Amino acid sequence: MDIAVIGSNMVDLISYITRMPNEGETVEAPDFRMGCGGKGANQAVAAARLGSRVLMVSRVGNDMFADRTIENLAENGVDTRYVSRTEATSGVAPIFVDKESHNSIIVVKGANAKLSPADIENAAADIEKCQLIILQLEISLETVYAAIDFGRDHGIPVLLNPAPAEPELVLEKVKSVDYFVPNESELSMLTGMPVDTLADIENAAGALLDAGMKNVIVTMGERGVLWLAPGHEPVRIDATKVEARDTTGAGDAFIGCFAHYLVQTGDVRAAMKYANAYAGLSVTALGTQTSYATKDAFLNYLGE
Ligand code: RIB
Repeated sequence: MDIAVIGSNMVDLISYITRMPNEGETVEAPDFRMGCGGKGANQAVAAARLGSRVLMVSRVGNDMFADRTIENLAENGVDTRYVSRTEATSGVAPIFVDKESHNSIIVVKGANAKLSPADIENAAADIEKCQLIILQLEISLETVYAAIDFGRDHGIPVLLNPAPAEPELVLEKVKSVDYFVPNESELSMLTGMPVDTLADIENAAGALLDAGMKNVIVTMGERGVLWLAPGHEPVRIDATKVEARDTTGAGDAFIGCFAHYLVQTGDVRAAMKYANAYAGLSVTALGTQTSYATKDAFLNYLGE
């Protein structure tokens, strides 16, 4: 097994809107898609589509969405032995995508909130065989902290994507992760620092290095991606120029692809370049996981 994703799954209910309704108002939207999402599942599926062997530790509810979520992970080659059912609704995410392809997301965690440190222990024998653990913040912080401790105790590198932004996240408890991958707004919330300019973003990421972090990789949308590590010059890669149709899940496409190439090559800079292109490609198609390329399609796009 290459990668363990300990995290969320959701069913995405995506409305393509011309504008948000005002309070008390009903507006018509021209299009709707339902699909499998959730930051953890998205990242797992992206890595698996690129060829990684991925194990997912997650919880679904006891409703009509549960079977579909497990089936979808399995269809994408993700190992679902540790995706368990629980007495709750499955996670759902009503999403609104506007004419400029920007999204607003409401997350109802449901069963994801019940994923516990005991679920990690239950999967320990298989997580131990992985070369990377990936985490996000759509599960309880207690479980995130337990997964970080598990990685440290077993010598497995940990990548934390601190999304969605969580004001309760305690930096001290996550600073031992090997790769910390926020977007600009998450970086700003965590550090309390501005992120308006590239220099601001470098300063804020630098503050995380000063706090003891090893690799801070900031995804910056149209401004590309920035990597800071102690003793290295900052590395910035420009965003790929594309015609965006739906940016939902682009950050997860980046993480899944980055993890895949990091595990395959051990080369952070190369993994960033591939991930940047993969995320760029994902925004040219509608939906979340529906916009993630397979390995063949991706290599074809790159001309490799
Ligand atoms: O990052 C995009 C994801 O955020 C969506 O798939 C939605 O489920 C929410 O988790």
